[in-house]
Amino acid sequence: MRIVLGVAGGIAAYKSVLLLRLLREAGHDVRVVPTRASLEFVGRATWEALSGQPVTTDVFEDVDQVAHVAVGKGADLVVVAPATADLLARAASGRADDLLTATLLVARCPVLLAPAMHTEMWEHPATRANVATLRARGVHVLDPDSGRLTGTDSGPGRLPEPEAIAAAALALVDRAGGTADLRGRRVVVSAGGTREPLDPVRYLGNRSSGRQGLALARAALARGAQVTLVAANVALPLPAGVDVVRVGSAAELRDAVRLAARDADVVVMAAAVADFRPATTAETKIKKDDDGSVPSITLVRTVDVLAELAHERLRDAQVVVGFAAETGDGDGSVLEHGRAKARRKGADLLVVNAVGEGRGFGTDDNEVTVLDGTGEVVAKAEGTKDQVAHAVWDAVAALGPAAVR
Ligand code: CTP
Repeated sequence: MRIVLGVAGGIAAYKSVLLLRLLREAGHDVRVVPTRASLEFVGRATWEALSGQPVTTDVFEDVDQVAHVAVGKGADLVVVAPATADLLARAASGRADDLLTATLLVARCPVLLAPAMHTEMWEHPATRANVATLRARGVHVLDPDSGRLTGTDSGPGRLPEPEAIAAAALALVDRAGGTADLRGRRVVVSAGGTREPLDPVRYLGNRSSGRQGLALARAALARGAQVTLVAANVALPLPAGVDVVRVGSAAELRDAVRLAARDADVVVMAAAVADFRPATTAETKIKKDDDGSVPSITLVRTVDVLAELAHERLRDAQVVVGFAAETGDGDGSVLEHGRAKARRKGADLLVVNAVGEGRGFGTDDNEVTVLDGTGEVVAKAEGTKDQVAHAVWDAVAALGPAAVR
């Protein structure tokens, strides 16, 4: 694949030298397009030697050899690292005053921007607006890392590590070479397990790790979707390139999912959402009584977010997918419970998985049966959670053009 590596003028440009190597080692042709300012940090000779390709910064340089539109047109992926506040502003407003911004305007391939700047610049409303504009256009803008910046100051604004940027870039390249049936689609995935507070230190929770939800988010990203991940208490590393909203309780999850679902083509409720929460949350820690008595906890029902989304349909032709973790019992098998739930919830698809005895929660593998809204089996999948995730997206794709192109 042909990758354009844009480098804007920030001190973190030195980290892109390693990024270039990682992309080259993964077998890609990389053409480096630095801004003129960035050459103050890393010189042309370094880029030329490591990429094995000529390096130009301006549209009027080497015009006989470099048609300025050709660089963007021929690219399978454009990565800009570091993307400075100025580069984000120029990209958001569609400027084409150097070869890098001209390339960004011409490119029709996936674009990944890895910002790096001072915290104040990253948090400025102008930068926030530019990032929102770019993301709304389908550009993948990574969140910068938090940590030590150029001087002694620290905060959000650090360039993500080259390995993390390379992983996000290579996921986009894989997608370009593989199936991109969710390109341009917006999907929301909830993952993890909610916690319902009893007092400032205690909660009622569940064992969901969020692995299956993260796999669904990664698979959707790899198939071209713009992904919002609503992560409830997920302790695992979250995939780069997805918009993350962290939540704690079922009520917070409901608000976050509903907000994101307003613009979504597909909503997948993979989170284990509490069905009950304590009726009241004590403001201070509940203490033991000397008489040995124990407090009783009154529970109340939470809102069923999946059923609510399925019945309300916040957006035309939105596909709603639910999960059902079942153990099977005296009243019915895993599948029988799943069938009844499919009909009750009103979702388009219900992914049923058997839990308990080391299956489902916290494990790497999963085995699922996908039912439609009437309880009919439409697919079965077994394997890693990534494989199961792709099987779920296949089932979504099989619903037809409303969900995918
Ligand atoms: N779910 C939800 N909101 C809730 C509870 C569950 O959106 N308050 C969603 C989950 O994200 C999942 C699906 O509903 O997609 C199935 O949840 P599950 O707990 O298995 O089913 P319940 O409706 O709770 O049924 P039961 O407890 O009777 O098995």
